[in-house]
Amino acid sequence: MFRSLIQRHPLAAVARKYCNVRASSTIGNISLTERSHNCHELRSHHVGEKVTICGWLQHRRFDFMFTLRDSFGAIQIIIPKEEQGSKELVETLTAAYQESVVKVKGHVQLRPNGLKNKEMGTGDVEIVADSVELLNPCKEQLPVQLSDFNKVSEAVRMQFRYIDLRSKRMQRNLRLRSDVVMKMREFLWKQHGFVEVETPTLFRKTPGGAQEFPVPCKQTGKFYSLPQSPQQFKQLLMVGGIDRYFQIARCYRDEGSRPDRQPEFTQVDLEMSFITKEGIYQLIEEMILFSWPESLPTPTIPFPRMTYDDAMNQYGVDKPDTRFDMKIQDVTDILQGSGAAIFQSSSPSFRIKLINCKGATNHLKKKHIELLEEEGRKKASQLGMEKGGVIGVRLEAPPASWKSPIAKYVGDDVKERLVKSLGAETGDLFLIAAGEQDINQILGHVRLQAASLLEEKGVSVRDLSSFNFLWVEDFPLFLPKDEESTSQGDVESAHHPFTAPMKGEEELVYSSPLKVKGQHYDLVLNGMEIAGGSIRIHRADLQRYILENILKEDSSSLSHLLEALESGCPPHGGIAIGFDRYISLLCGEPSIRDVIAFPKTVDGNDLMSGAPSTLLNEELERYGIQVAQGKES
Ligand code: AMO
Repeated sequence: MFRSLIQRHPLAAVARKYCNVRASSTIGNISLTERSHNCHELRSHHVGEKVTICGWLQHRRFDFMFTLRDSFGAIQIIIPKEEQGSKELVETLTAAYQESVVKVKGHVQLRPNGLKNKEMGTGDVEIVADSVELLNPCKEQLPVQLSDFNKVSEAVRMQFRYIDLRSKRMQRNLRLRSDVVMKMREFLWKQHGFVEVETPTLFRKTPGGAQEFPVPCKQTGKFYSLPQSPQQFKQLLMVGGIDRYFQIARCYRDEGSRPDRQPEFTQVDLEMSFITKEGIYQLIEEMILFSWPESLPTPTIPFPRMTYDDAMNQYGVDKPDTRFDMKIQDVTDILQGSGAAIFQSSSPSFRIKLINCKGATNHLKKKHIELLEEEGRKKASQLGMEKGGVIGVRLEAPPASWKSPIAKYVGDDVKERLVKSLGAETGDLFLIAAGEQDINQILGHVRLQAASLLEEKGVSVRDLSSFNFLWVEDFPLFLPKDEESTSQGDVESAHHPFTAPMKGEEELVYSSPLKVKGQHYDLVLNGMEIAGGSIRIHRADLQRYILENILKEDSSSLSHLLEALESGCPPHGGIAIGFDRYISLLCGEPSIRDVIAFPKTVDGNDLMSGAPSTLLNEELERYGIQVAQGKES
């Protein structure tokens, strides 16, 4: 499935472009490299020219015919049989193993008719070698051949990343990433007067948010912390008069790795003084268009918007994948009290909701529906619910005839009413959940699972060539911490503690904090949160009140920020794009690891270098640290 997703992505067709870029080799009369050309450049109009090229030995056909590949393409090399010196050339090349690095000098000639290769950009020509120099012999057996990289496990690719990086796929991904970030820099700096500022990566522990990485230092007992993001610094830069800041910022979070998470990752981070939410939306939309890869279908702006409440009610997540429908529908009025025990409750917040997977029973068998039910149960238990999940109902002909364990408890008139009100048809599959507010999240989860299952069966649910951007806004400012602590009123920031309350709702912060909406916005692309930001609190008294009275944090660790807010702080706001996530979507890669040159595994390990590694006791002593016996991993 993974391969087919990549092949159906629009970039698959243009993979070559990103491997065929011309790297300029001269400035004035000075040649920057030893090469006169890159391998992919040579065409019939070069016939007769003397050239020098360098690259990796790729294939050998007979003793006198080779393919040389560099980072941009490949070309065929011929050793002239009869000429003087040919024997030595053949010996040099036949002694060299594949992936050895060689320099070839020679001249370009047309390939004989019938031997032209239409598959190769350089397939009309070849280089007749005059000299061959072995610049770096490759060892006989590489742990893995470049051609095998698509077949080997990701662990092998990560262990030998320096070879994997030579693959077309990684070349394309990293070059596209570089192109996009260059354009973003140009847009922000040249067109909008942003200043690129580097902020420290040795910082101090900050309250709330993700787990941080502590860094010991020679001041015994004291630790730096790697920043989760430059959030505080960018706000301080606004106080400092930078007015428009950006940074391609490295962020660190010691949180469980998933395909869309890394312990160190990159943000395109920005902040502006006197900015409005509308201003941020406009800037980001224009920047995305400006840096958009030519080879992809251009998105239209402005991007659609949705409130957090609508996202949760219709899609069951705060990052809806709007490429397909299957929205959550409230059917409480029809099904409540209709016979089945799960539909009985006197609680005023009790709801019955469903998603209708149109035509799904034509593709999904009983075991698949059971799988979806199992996913519903898993999600319910993740949400701390003792019972709960979804029940599948297959609509047979006529559609009001149900196949489901609950079918016999529900009267025909109710079934008919439901089918009619939803416009359901034979072949549809209802996934029904009953309970309190959390059922949205259960249905949101099975909605995505059902889409993936259907796609595995060959049904086209999501258009893989479309890019559905969506602003999600009007988030709550605070959320209850968890079920147990809710009763004591413990809350946490829905995002970070610096987000300003919605205009006009400031007073509610003091009376009913859980009712306050925040001036936060997320940008979602195809169901993935690719950016988040907000208008910030710029008043010290409000910031202090929220930290101390609502979040119950020790505000002394943020005294620098609080003092700065009392020192003439312009109102300000900003956003950060999760750049790895964004690029992975542009490249059609299911994991952000495939757009990062040297990523970590899900457990946070670098399989190539073996990081993290242990320190000797005498090295630890410098920091006054001892590793507890039995705690070593
Ligand atoms: P937030 O925490 O939402 O906001 O992060 C912004 C974006 O960064 C990406 N992201 C990640 N990408 C890869 N691996 C991770 N572990 C990871 N965590 C987050 C997401 C997310 O949308 N300082 C605020 C921004 C602001 O308010 O201006 C912040 O960091 O795509």
